[in-house]
Formats: sequence, C-alpha cells, structure tokens
Amino acid sequence: MTRHADVRACLRDGRLGRNFRHVGREDEFEAAEPLDPRRQPFWDTERWSLLWLEPPEHTRIRKLVAAAFTPRSVEALRVPCAELARELLPDGRFELLRDFAQPYSIAVICRLLGVPTDRGRDLLDWSHAMVKMYELDTTDAQAEAATAAAAEFRDYVVSLIEPRRREPRDDLVTRLVEARVEDGRLTDAQIVSTIIVLLNAGHEATVNTLGNGVLALLHHRKQWERLVGGQIEPAAAVEELIRWDPPLQLFERWVLENGVEIAGREVPRGAKVALLFGAANRDPRVFEDADAFDVGRANAAEHIGFGGGIHVCIGAPLARIELEAALRALVESAPGLDVVEEPQRNRAFVIWGLDRLELCA
Ligand code: HEM
Repeated sequence: MTRHADVRACLRDGRLGRNFRHVGREDEFEAAEPLDPRRQPFWDTERWSLLWLEPPEHTRIRKLVAAAFTPRSVEALRVPCAELARELLPDGRFELLRDFAQPYSIAVICRLLGVPTDRGRDLLDWSHAMVKMYELDTTDAQAEAATAAAAEFRDYVVSLIEPRRREPRDDLVTRLVEARVEDGRLTDAQIVSTIIVLLNAGHEATVNTLGNGVLALLHHRKQWERLVGGQIEPAAAVEELIRWDPPLQLFERWVLENGVEIAGREVPRGAKVALLFGAANRDPRVFEDADAFDVGRANAAEHIGFGGGIHVCIGAPLARIELEAALRALVESAPGLDVVEEPQRNRAFVIWGLDRLELCA
C-alpha cells in the first residue's frame, strides 16, 4: 500500500493484525516462520510488547501502559529536554548522531525511566542489537547478538523493579509497577517487555528523525533560515521532518479473516500487507506539491509517521517534545550550522536513517 488513504485504512482495520498467533498457525500465514527456539530470550521480551500483541491482550496492556505513561509525566519532561539539549549540544565540528542525537535521546529515556545515565551506553547497545530483528534480512549473527542483548536487558530491568516495589520513586518503572486497571496489575514479564519496547521503539526513531531532518534542513537552506529567523516554530517544522523523510518506512499487517477488501481488491486471510509510510507521506492526494520540503506546510501533521489505529505510537507526545527541544537548541545555538561531509545512508530498509552526519556549528 502506497496511498495515504489505503495505508490509513489498513492501520485502522481490526481485521488486520501485527500478529496472527492468537487466531491461527504459522503455516496458514504467508511468509510467517516459526519462532527460532535458539532466540527464546528475545521472544520472551517480545511476548508482552505492545507491538507483538493484538486484542484483547493488547487493549489491556496498552491501558496499563497509558496509565503509567501519562500526558502529565510526559509534559514534565519538557523543561528537562530543553536543558539536556542545550547542555549536550557540542561546539565546533561534531557528528550529529554519535555526539548529540544518541546521547540526548538516551538521557531523556534515562530520565523517564529513572535510571542513571551511566547505563546509557548499555541501553543504546542493547537497543541497536535488538532492532535488527525488525529488518527484512536479519543475519544469524545479528539474531544471536539480539538474543544476547535481550537477555542482558531483561536482567537489568528486573533489577530495577524490586527496589521500586519496596520504595516507590517518581519514575516510569514505579508507575508501571503501580499501574492498575479493573482486572489487575502488570506482571514482571509485562513490565520488562514494556520498558524494552518503549526504549527500542522510542529512541531509534527519534535519533533518525533528527539525522534525516537536520540533513533535509541544511540541504534546503531557505527552510533552515525560516527557523533561524523565527518565521517558523520548531514544533511545526518537526511535523514536516517526519512527513518528508520518515525514520520508519515500512510496517506490515497480516490479514486475519476472509472477506477483507483492501483498496478495492479482496485479500485472503493469511496474506501479508506492506504499508509504505514514506510513500503515503508524499501522496499528492493529501499533500500539495508533496515532494517539496516546506517547514511551513499547513497540513504536515497529517503525515502517517506515527501510525494509526490501535497501535498508534504511544510515545508520539514525548517524541514531539524531544524533537522540538533538540531543534530549538540547534537553531538557537548554531544558526550557521553546515554539513561538512556528504553523509551516508544506513543500509536498513525499515529503520531509515544516516550512518553519520558530520556538521560544523
Ligand atoms: C519520531 C519518533 C517516533 C516515530 C516516527 C514513531 C513511530 C511509531 C509508529 C509508526 C508506530 C506504530 C507501528 C505500527 O502500527 O505497526 C509506533 C508505535 C509505538 N511507539 Fe513510536 N515512534 C516514535 C517515537 C516513540 C517514542 C519516543 C516512544 C516511547 C518513548 C515510542 C514508543 C512506541 C510504542 C511503545 C509503540 C507501540 C504501540 C502499540 O503497539 O500499541 N515511539 N511508533
């Protein structure tokens, strides 16, 4: 699916799922492979991830996570984000991803979770290793590294839970421990999966939005100057960065029932549908002069970058605050920012970003 309307309709259709294992076997679903038992520690951390679940389990866990990841707790990160962005922004020549975007995004997540930033490097390494499992061509070595990372990450999160149960703090782990809806609380395994998906789903996309977005701004100098001159607010520009060069390009859904019609065609149960977010975000039916990069675009926020339907990004309010603060810090502290070396794209297809972006402030 490449059209905005079709991608959106698929995201909102309850007869399509990110998972099928609650309604059928692997051999009934196209391109589905049995879960490799050698990777069990990885699958254990996936088991309760929001991205793995479908209703009714998804509904229950998402409610509990939403009770912990409240608008208030996210809003409370606005000032710390602005401070961290200013503090961490280097002078002179620097590599945007390694020297700013990654340490910044990890510092924000450490603040949210209430964990010391000296574990930031581990969080980053575990996350990098684990997200390789979402690519289309994961090698054996990558799968093995992802499994080892999952086991270490699980042990680390387990070590955070018990102290908070004894002595609650003002952080997300405590709120997950305390979260409760009518039918109970989250188990430790569910808390572990949730923390891991929040970190992995969260920081890679935020870092790549900054890489892709700053490159777009510097390649379209007039757009950058509109931010520097104050004609356009960073919050508005963030929407166009996500629309024009989204950090997540492809999501898939399985058709869970017979009789489903997509874009005027019947698609049988068991089929797999690919949703191309990058294409949907450039659909001329929705965005005028869709290939033009325009930070003042009135309807940029209609992009599909955060998804839609029941799996719509739960971290979108945080991503927006985080990206706005980073962009504001860059614009205010480094108005003369420029690219000093043409960057290289990463070779991934799903998680789309740059390997490096060398800049001079
Ligand atoms: C620019 C940054 C981000 C982008 C573009 C993005 C994009 C997305 C998209 C497209 C989905 C839906 C996937 C699907 O429908 O198959 C999603 C889900 C999710 N995102 Fe984000 N995200 C971003 C930042 C974050 C952050 C900062 C967090 C958390 C701190 C986060 C946590 C999640 C979680 C937990 C889900 C799963 C929700 C569910 O399945 O119910 N994301 N994100």
